[in-house]
Amino acid sequence: MRTRPLKVALLGCGVVGSEVARIMTTHADDLAARIGAPVELAGVAVRRPAKVREGIDPSLVTTDATALVKRGDIDVVVEVIGGIEPARSLITTAFEHGASVVSANKALLAQDGAALHAAAGAHGRDLYYEAAVAGAIPLIRPLRESLAGDKVNRVLGIVNGTTNFILDKMDSTGAGYQEALDEATALGYAEADPTADVEGFDAAAKAAILAGIAFHTRVRLDDVYREGMTEVTAADFRSAKEMGCTIKLLAICERSADGTSVTARVHPAMIPLSHPLASVRGAYNAVFVESDAAGQLMFYGPGAGGSPTASAVLGDLVAVCRNRLNGATGPGESAYADLTVSPMGDVVTRYHISLDVADKPGVLAQVATVFAEHGVSIDTVRQQGKDGEASLVVVTHRAFDASLSGTVEALRKLDTVRGVASIMRVEGE
Ligand SMILES: NC(=O)c1ccc[n+]([C@@H]2O[C@H](COP(=O)([O-])OP(=O)(O)OC[C@H]3O[C@@H](n4cnc5c(N)ncnc54)[C@H](OP(=O)(O)O)[C@@H]3O)[C@@H](O)[C@H]2O)c1
Repeated sequence: MRTRPLKVALLGCGVVGSEVARIMTTHADDLAARIGAPVELAGVAVRRPAKVREGIDPSLVTTDATALVKRGDIDVVVEVIGGIEPARSLITTAFEHGASVVSANKALLAQDGAALHAAAGAHGRDLYYEAAVAGAIPLIRPLRESLAGDKVNRVLGIVNGTTNFILDKMDSTGAGYQEALDEATALGYAEADPTADVEGFDAAAKAAILAGIAFHTRVRLDDVYREGMTEVTAADFRSAKEMGCTIKLLAICERSADGTSVTARVHPAMIPLSHPLASVRGAYNAVFVESDAAGQLMFYGPGAGGSPTASAVLGDLVAVCRNRLNGATGPGESAYADLTVSPMGDVVTRYHISLDVADKPGVLAQVATVFAEHGVSIDTVRQQGKDGEASLVVVTHRAFDASLSGTVEALRKLDTVRGVASIMRVEGE
């Protein structure tokens, strides 16, 4: 074993970074044996230097992250600051000064992954980011390496624990959205500003990363259709139950039937209780991968938290350190397939539509005609009447999202349709 240590600069020492530092210390001997050389924490960049950080030598702490990555003797930079800047500049500077990079930064990777991969490649360095998607769950490496000989057709997952916690609460207790969100906040599962989670931004970043790797095609954040889950109601869960379904916020990356294009989207959807994703409870994450040869695979586990996320970071750190000792690099960006990324209108799926209508003869026929005119075939219809008003629940066969949008627009114009109470996609069948 080499005795000269590999030097690691830790950028950020918060929820994830502090756990990375702790495991580097407590598992030092095992890490050295697995890598073939000891790893040494050479510096820790933070914003508030005076804060007491258990287990961290205060002499290593600095607020000058740029100077740390420019030192020239750093082998690996671990970026766990988060956000776009200064993380992006620091990572680029790290490559320029000879370091490889491990990051947990989904927002940055989803936005600038291609440029960062190019910078890593130009300097012959590694960029690894297993922790950026679904925390501890091994997903990037299985897609990038284990499934490199297969053809992935679909990635369907629960990749945000906060939203899964909220939806699971609504499902199990009958609570409304706000009540479930309040509980998630009180228990620390939701941040004070939960927008990134509940509006699907966090899941969309992960969907862009997963789709890019799964389909060997660049998928930008803007290519991902995104709908949050703030409009999901207790009534939607009652409807879902009547259909033998529950509701999850899903990230779905799909190859088209003819294989020439892909789509990526995030939205709430009904899934059958028999689907493995339906039983993912609390703040857990799970990702279902479908490929030609392997068939169906499911990856399940804690998608966030300091220690689980640090596990993924450390796994990358070991891989990157091994590569350095071998004078090699791991897989970089693979975008050779260059498939068309299609808009949401091209997605084909089933829909559950709940309409408030006038309770009088002929309404059902009128509504059915609008569906037929837009090429959307109806699977089932359920009508409940009360005091001159009625609710009509229509479940469709598979149809283009654009056709469904056209149907809903036309339905809204009917005098007999008082309102569209909810539209929910039905997945996983
Ligand atoms: N938390 C999770 O469960 C989780 C899961 C998966 C991925 N991630 C990703 O991991 C990354 C880190 O998340 P986190 O939860 O650990 O964040 P965090 O607790 O807010 O920690 C951020 C750290 O970065 C430091 N920092 C902020 N701005 C800085 C700057 N300009 N220069 C130097 N240091 C700076 C902070 O310093 P101070 O300590 O002085 O404030 C803090 O130590 C993010 O990209 C996040 O998306 C997190």
